[in-house]
Amino acid sequence: MALWYLTRGTGAAALVLLTLSLTLGVVNVQRYASRLVPRFAVDGWHRTTSLLVCVLLAVHVGTTVLDGYAPIRLVDAFVPFGGTYRPVWLGLGALALDLLIALIVTSLLRARLGLRAWRAVHWLAYACWPVALVHGLGTGSDVRPGWLTWLSLGCTAVVIVAVGVRLADRGTAIRVRAGAAATVAAGVIALAIWLPSGPLAGGWAAKAGTPPSILGAKAATTARSHR
Ligand code: HEM
Repeated sequence: MALWYLTRGTGAAALVLLTLSLTLGVVNVQRYASRLVPRFAVDGWHRTTSLLVCVLLAVHVGTTVLDGYAPIRLVDAFVPFGGTYRPVWLGLGALALDLLIALIVTSLLRARLGLRAWRAVHWLAYACWPVALVHGLGTGSDVRPGWLTWLSLGCTAVVIVAVGVRLADRGTAIRVRAGAAATVAAGVIALAIWLPSGPLAGGWAAKAGTPPSILGAKAATTARSHR
């Protein structure tokens, strides 16, 4: 039970820090600086939050696998969509983790890779965040009680503002800016349709691909009935 609480807590904390990391990345690339907040500080916070996300995810994945309540193997944390527990939604978590690993590794090797290659990979940060968001909403136990939904929507609002600031940058081609703005709008509409008919609707655990053995056990015990 303690492990399950840790999985949930670290998942929520990782989403918040991932949001902060993405926002600080945008602030950094926009070269925002003031006397109170110098650029090196923004850069340092961006790195620190990104590394903290990795630490939290190590605990998130470790506690998931060690818990043993759901049939989730270590390999399922890295190889997307191959598992038996909510394969799509857990698979998105694995995909987000893989993207994050690519971002961290290429950042550590930035001097060797060169700025162009590093930057090309770093665009993946914008894909990693929504993939992680949908994973949390599709897999998390705390969506229906409500607080995770509100936390996720709050993070979404922060990311929309950050991306908006990034897109307002005239240095980026208008074609790219228009495409990105359309993608964000489509994502928000998709989320607004999916959430009420998916994770917030009744019977999501079964629809999401929870194995029947767990659904049966869940009916028998109330301790974990909101899983
Ligand atoms: C960037 C990567 C990831 C982020 C940001 C993330 C975040 C989250 C969040 C926010 C939740 C909802 C927690 C709650 O209900 O309170 C969650 C749930 C969960 N995550 Fe992740 N996750 C990531 C990757 C992974 C990976 C790779 C695994 C594979 C082991 C995993 C396994 C789980 C499981 C099993 C749950 C459901 C826990 C429950 O029963 O509530 N996550 N995750």
